[in-house]
Amino acid sequence: MIINGFVIVVLLTYLIMLAAFFVPHIRRIHMPVMISIIIFDLCVPFYLFLNGDWGVRLIESGDILSFGVWMHFGMVLTLYILYAVQVHSAIQILKGNKGVKEDHRGQAKAILGLRAFVILTGVSLIDPELPGSGTATVEP
Ligand code: HEM
Repeated sequence: MIINGFVIVVLLTYLIMLAAFFVPHIRRIHMPVMISIIIFDLCVPFYLFLNGDWGVRLIESGDILSFGVWMHFGMVLTLYILYAVQVHSAIQILKGNKGVKEDHRGQAKAILGLRAFVILTGVSLIDPELPGSGTATVEP
């Protein structure tokens, strides 16, 4: 397993999300933290795209056909869908609909579990030999 600077930042965001999960009653912490991490997660694909040679990483190496890449991609999409549902239920809570709190809590657990798997599968895909992994070294 390769741990680079970006992986450390992602792991930190996971710990911060976990902390915010346990203090939903402190809305001034819970809401900005969750909104920031959701925005962070939405920006990750752009960051990776701008920082790697994805033509080589996915096409020339044949990785685009690999099970690992598709599994990771599917999990990321599912996470984004859960985020949309979670934001929707948060808006309902803020509007005073207490009935959706249970949904929000259930989805919260799914998000925490799925996000852990997204990070694990993402880290397992880092290949230091290939450009685009963020750890590739340049030959002199
Ligand atoms: C846009 C993002 C989010 C907003 C605006 C938001 C907002 C809220 C609000 C207003 C509450 C009610 C707090 C209270 O009782 O006073 C709440 C509860 C909660 N939220 Fe969030 N939330 C967001 C995302 C998340 C995420 C991503 C998670 C988990 C990973 C999460 C986990 C929870 C939990 C566990 C509760 C407690 C539910 C209960 O009372 O049983 N939230 N949230």
